[in-house]
Amino acid sequence: MNVHCRRNFWRHLLLVVVGAMGWICLAVVFSSNARVENMEIKFTNDSARVQDYLISPSGMDARLERIHNVCKEWSVPGKVSIITVYPPRHTAYCINHKVASTYWLQVFRYLYNDTTRDVHRPSDISKFETHLSQFRYVEFLNFYNLTIQRDLTRNYFRFMITREPYKRLWSVYIDKFVLVDGWFWDLFAPEIRTRYLATFGNGETLENTKCLKDISFKEFIHYVSEIGSKSPENLNDHMIPVHYTCNPCHYKPTFVGNLETMTDEKPIILDRLGLSRIDSATNFTDHVLNEITTIADFEFDSVLAHKYQRRCLTDAELETRIIRAFVFNGYFREDVFTEVEQLLPLGRDRFVPVLMEIFTNSNITPSESSSLRKRFMLEAYSHIPLSMLKNLKITYTFDFLLFGYNPEPPDIFAHTKTDST
Ligand SMILES: *[C@@H]1O[C@H](CO)[C@@H](O)[C@H](O)[C@H]1NC(C)=O
Ligand SMILES: *[C@@H]1O[C@H](CO)[C@@H](O)[C@H](O)[C@H]1NC(C)=O
Ligand SMILES: *[C@@H]1O[C@H](CO)[C@@H](O)[C@H](O)[C@H]1NC(C)=O
Ligand SMILES: *[C@@H]1O[C@H](CO)[C@@H](O)[C@H](O)[C@H]1NC(C)=O
Repeated sequence: MNVHCRRNFWRHLLLVVVGAMGWICLAVVFSSNARVENMEIKFTNDSARVQDYLISPSGMDARLERIHNVCKEWSVPGKVSIITVYPPRHTAYCINHKVASTYWLQVFRYLYNDTTRDVHRPSDISKFETHLSQFRYVEFLNFYNLTIQRDLTRNYFRFMITREPYKRLWSVYIDKFVLVDGWFWDLFAPEIRTRYLATFGNGETLENTKCLKDISFKEFIHYVSEIGSKSPENLNDHMIPVHYTCNPCHYKPTFVGNLETMTDEKPIILDRLGLSRIDSATNFTDHVLNEITTIADFEFDSVLAHKYQRRCLTDAELETRIIRAFVFNGYFREDVFTEVEQLLPLGRDRFVPVLMEIFTNSNITPSESSSLRKRFMLEAYSHIPLSMLKNLKITYTFDFLLFGYNPEPPDIFAHTKTDST
């Protein structure tokens, strides 16, 4: 055999071996019961392989292995946008919006004492300050500097948090359109409404772009699903698939937390950071009272900071919106409105104490709260046509694959067998 022939021989042998392995893999996949019907993945026709990844997230090793395998099999788009580190503890955090970023930024601000006043624990730092005041000490790194990347990859505990995409979108909607958000109202609301009218408006067009405070969940999802299914990289930070800002194929996390199970996973990270003593796991009551305070303060601060919003809202309307968001989050039963309606507006000083008292007296349990939260989310999704849901499935394909979420949760897709718009 001459050299050329020998090379060809090996190449053929390799092809045969690889081919055989492929068939074995397919056989394994077909015999497994992890089937998801109608998985529409736009980047591959090999849906049998895709199905192999669609099991629910389990232990950390399994999560990391899944990521490793998906990264090997596909070229996952996205980069590592914002990383913060705490060198004394060799810990790095890749930031994603609407995935507990407020909490972890509070923790990093706390570690660096990057606050405008003395605080005793991370959650004492207001949400407004956490996101909107300038960082003076917290260190952010450029992941694509090779010196830095090598150090991070060799020596650091690297964590990131993920979230189930459908729940994340519902949460963005509550935060940005049920609650008041100057930036989203000014920048996105007109675009969302314009797009929606172009499809469903029967020739109607948007005339007044001011005070668009009634964007519906369907309008919001229509926008996300149209942009996302074509060019997900153009979605805003709050909606962009997690792998676009924290591509785990580059970042190579050593710890991938799920927002859904944060209570159990938080202590592991806090321990790494030397904070287990200060911020031990809080119980449900503490958590909700803290959320009520954080969110209400943030809303009052934001509206004060945006004169324009002030013109769009009465005080009573602002307070009603905050309470509605709390009802959606399962902190209050719906009848809270009959209790407080006549009292509104309570005013900033009385608002939080009154709500805290109502919450404490309501004796709502964690399981009741979570079933209320779920009910509202499913009710919201029940108005979303199947065509939009399918586009969301495409938009977040790699988040489902990488992080092990079901692309077609039965309770979200169940109601909508046909496409009624
Ligand atoms: C999938 O298969 C269809 C029909 O065989 C083909 O037209 C299309 O280009 C394929 N898509 C990809 C991404 O390979
Ligand atoms: C942290 O910062 C605050 C506000 O700048 C300051 O009052 C406090 O003394 C600092 N604490 C420490 C331990 O440096
Ligand atoms: C990369 O980071 C190192 C360490 O921080 C720094 O010294 C170096 O200048 C950086 N290189 C570039 C190209 O920015
Ligand atoms: C929750 O924790 C707080 C202290 O952080 C405590 O006062 C309260 O009794 C706890 N509640 C329950 C139900 O364990």
